[in-house]
Amino acid sequence: MSPTFSETLRAATMPSHEQANHSPYISALLGGELSVDAFGQLASQLYFVYSALEEAAEAMRDDPIAGKFVFAELNRREALREDMAYYFGPSWESQVSELPATAEYCKRIRSVSWSGEFVAHHYTRYLGDIAGGQIIRHRLRKLHGVEGPGSMFYVFDQIPSAPKFRDNYRTLLNEAPWNAQERKRVIIESVRAYELNVAVFAALATKFLTHTSTHGNSTTS
Ligand code: HEM
Repeated sequence: MSPTFSETLRAATMPSHEQANHSPYISALLGGELSVDAFGQLASQLYFVYSALEEAAEAMRDDPIAGKFVFAELNRREALREDMAYYFGPSWESQVSELPATAEYCKRIRSVSWSGEFVAHHYTRYLGDIAGGQIIRHRLRKLHGVEGPGSMFYVFDQIPSAPKFRDNYRTLLNEAPWNAQERKRVIIESVRAYELNVAVFAALATKFLTHTSTHGNSTTS
């Protein structure tokens, strides 16, 4: 039996997933080598990414294909605002800014106007958040005792079953009426979305990795 589109997409992006997953910043974060501030720095960049992504989702709401992927229960922007207040205090808005790699990523998201490319960006982030994101949530609690505020980004309390949600999402991918050529474009854009993520992680590493340790130095200093 030939693979479904969601299976093809997953397989085609697996090397990119490996690369993202094993980025030095993410590895150090999950390995407990960084202070809790490193989670805040990551969240601050994701705040800009999700602001762009959720604006794009709003714009796609009435699209007959992309609109099916727009679920309010996925929205992360408000959760990230809460997390920002936790990490940076009440005046967080004046303290966080986009790294150039994040600005590039957001620019790409904003430039997307075709359903397939939008879904590629949507898939790459949200499906990852409700899968691997849960591993990060667990590490954040285990390593730094952060639960609730500071980890709201990883909490999808409006989604009662993540596996069911992922199955439903994969069905949507399989049923989206893209032809073979268009499906290829979705895969290409998803690989690009991974690359943009990897670039953000690399920029975070350059900026904060050498200055950060669990033994004192703060990423915000
Ligand atoms: C922090 C390190 C990460 C870990 C430990 C991790 C782990 C996982 C795991 C275990 C799955 C499989 C879930 C399943 O079979 O249903 C998964 C799926 C996924 N992850 Fe990650 N991940 C990480 C980082 C990322 C990043 C940085 C991205 C994208 C920017 C990402 C995007 C995805 C996507 C899109 C899927 C769904 C694949 C599919 O089923 O089509 N992950 N991740």
